[in-house]
Amino acid sequence: MSGLLAGKRLLVTGVITDASIAFSVAKLAQENGAQVVLTGYGRLSLVERIAKRLPEPAPVIELDVTSAEHLAGLADRVREHVDGLDGVVHSIGFAPQSCLGGGFLDASWEDVSTALHVSTYSYKSLAMAALPLMSPGGAVVGLTFDATKAWPVYDWMGVAKAGLESASRYLALHLGKQGIRSNLVAAGPLRTMAARSIPGFEQFEDAWAGRAPLGWDLTDQEPAARACLALLSDWFPATTGEIVHVDGGYHAIGA
Ligand SMILES: NC(=O)c1ccc[n+]([C@@H]2O[C@H](COP(=O)([O-])OP(=O)(O)OC[C@H]3O[C@@H](n4cnc5c(N)ncnc54)[C@H](O)[C@@H]3O)[C@@H](O)[C@H]2O)c1
Repeated sequence: MSGLLAGKRLLVTGVITDASIAFSVAKLAQENGAQVVLTGYGRLSLVERIAKRLPEPAPVIELDVTSAEHLAGLADRVREHVDGLDGVVHSIGFAPQSCLGGGFLDASWEDVSTALHVSTYSYKSLAMAALPLMSPGGAVVGLTFDATKAWPVYDWMGVAKAGLESASRYLALHLGKQGIRSNLVAAGPLRTMAARSIPGFEQFEDAWAGRAPLGWDLTDQEPAARACLALLSDWFPATTGEIVHVDGGYHAIGA
């Protein structure tokens, strides 16, 4: 077997359509020698149908990342398909509508706590659920949207992403002793189901297209997926707690 991830066994969360960033990660990972197990949330039959569009059929395990029961059973469910894990991809985000689109000042704690549970705390929960299958050299990779700034319409999702970025650094701190890395990819705006649920998302699209020094294709998930693969590979052996920007260079440019 050849390729960047030859022989690696990956757990990839977050596939819901073939536009999902996770779908691109799973596809490229298989093309680069990895064995992929997917998790799906909610509409499992839909995820199973999408999984059939991958180069190799991939098993799908049900995982609601807020369910203690699902998390407790995850390692055993994964073991039915692979004997260990070299990498885990967290490609999960959700916030109730009240938390997005300018509702920052009015969103209730109940709604905000849902956003933080699904989008932030779950990064740690998923890593811990998969940990019994992991060994030194393993990697956890997640997706963020640059949380160093307050963006119009992103609101509590921005706060959730700031928490995710911090949680990734703490995971790096606590899992470093076991030789496990934690890194994030900060992707520019991409037209996925999650993005479509953000009222006013087109503001990002217009800004990016005009400002990113390398330009930006809103429909090409592959650059972000490639960065995920690189971080899962053996080519970043001494990198953890890092955030790699895959945004056409937007974050580096003022006004
Ligand atoms: N699309 C963008 O512009 C963009 C930019 C930067 C970062 N991201 C991040 O990328 C990641 C993937 O999002 P995407 O854009 O591919 O959208 P997507 O809608 O394809 O994926 C989001 C996934 O989260 C899953 N999910 C939601 N609640 C869940 C739960 N309780 N348990 C388990 N899974 C759950 C959904 O099933 C879905 O598969 C998210 O973290 C998102 O914030 C997206």
